Amino acid sequence: MASTIASITIPVAPARVWQLIGGFNALPDWLPYIPHSELSEGGRVRTLANPAGEAIVERLEAFNDQERFYSYSILQAPFPARDYLATLRVKPAGDSASVVEWSGSFTPVGVTEQEIMQHFHGIYTDGLRALKEKMMGIPALGMGTFRLQGDVVMDSVRNGLEAGYRVIDTAQIYGNEAEVGAAIAASGVPREELFITTKIWIENLSRDKLIPSLKESLAKLRTDYVDLTLIHWPSRGGEVPVQEFMAALAEAKAQGLTRQIGVSNFTVELMRQAIDAVGADAIATNQIELHPYLQNRKVVEFARSQGIHITSYMTLAYGKVLGDPVIAKIAERHGATPAQVVLAWAMKLGYAVIPSSTQRANLDSNLKALNVKLSDSDMAQIAALDRNERLTSPDGLAPAWD
Ligand SMILES: NC(=O)c1ccc[n+]([C@@H]2O[C@H](COP(=O)([O-])OP(=O)(O)OC[C@H]3O[C@@H](n4cnc5c(N)ncnc54)[C@H](OP(=O)(O)O)[C@@H]3O)[C@@H](O)[C@H]2O)c1
Repeated sequence: MASTIASITIPVAPARVWQLIGGFNALPDWLPYIPHSELSEGGRVRTLANPAGEAIVERLEAFNDQERFYSYSILQAPFPARDYLATLRVKPAGDSASVVEWSGSFTPVGVTEQEIMQHFHGIYTDGLRALKEKMMGIPALGMGTFRLQGDVVMDSVRNGLEAGYRVIDTAQIYGNEAEVGAAIAASGVPREELFITTKIWIENLSRDKLIPSLKESLAKLRTDYVDLTLIHWPSRGGEVPVQEFMAALAEAKAQGLTRQIGVSNFTVELMRQAIDAVGADAIATNQIELHPYLQNRKVVEFARSQGIHITSYMTLAYGKVLGDPVIAKIAERHGATPAQVVLAWAMKLGYAVIPSSTQRANLDSNLKALNVKLSDSDMAQIAALDRNERLTSPDGLAPAWD
């Protein structure tokens, strides 16, 4: 009998990791082999397929939700092995990190122990890497809070959390971090389920102000860390060098005040400078105005070439694209709302979206954009709506746009 074990550490609390992968019968479709999965026998047997399309049939043998592990055997697979039993386990590692461990034992058939161990070790390592990448990425759909103040923002966040949102975008300048924090606290949703973004205002970009200002944001948000901190706008007239604020932001991450860091409203040239300062790998996203009427292709292409994710803000163009006849037609065909179509379009292009709403019904229906699947022809029609129409370009703040 041979065995192998692979593990990976993810700076995310065990409850959140388990929430994502703890269902034997509900694995997300971005994991390798999973897109073809089918269930039978009440969810205890799942059929996957390897990249060559060959079936792998697995049976759940043990499941422990408390200790966060499950074990499964293989009933049928193209592997040169028998007597297979594997266990996937999520263990705590400090306060808010997890070790995900995948181990297996098996008897080789017609190959050496060494060969079969290497084979399974490779599969486990690829799967765990995909998991970490996903967990460290920017979630596809969240809710924005710009312009929302006082009771309005409290209601919006409460409604959003009730509806199922777990991603909230705020900023120091929105003047609502304390209300967002209060609404989160009142909701009882555990912190580790949430993904909270804030943004550093231009007054706080200098080395001596950035971290203290972020600590103030954390106090208002009633949390020890945010998931993502962005530079809201580049420094006016280059007053604070990009190198200085990116280094301070990286230091905030090193201190555990924020899980990920990124930028917002950055042009290609500013992204280049940010990359020079901290490296492309350190920059999780560039949050930019992006909707059907402003598709921002130059910035998107450059960010893509550097592996930097794009977050689309004002995806609905603050409501302006919702009356577009092309979008209305596509929506009608899908039995969807125009807002769902626009959000689905942006997500299909790989962008994260954070639409805001003060209406419970709109929050609910925007969340359902995740279920709208657009065709290539729908995508092409929306691509053709680009007219470089920028809605947000504050005087004295906006850089020289690409
Ligand atoms: N980084 C930056 O510089 C920056 C700049 C701007 C925005 N942002 C972020 O991006 C978020 C989104 O942008 P945004 O709020 O300006 O604009 P948006 O999400 O494009 O549009 C929000 C508007 O659309 C309406 N709306 C939402 N869902 C709808 C639906 N299903 N049907 C009809 N109308 C709907 C809302 O009205 P109701 O309230 O009536 O639903 C609201 O007036 C902001 O909240 C903020 O967090 C970042």
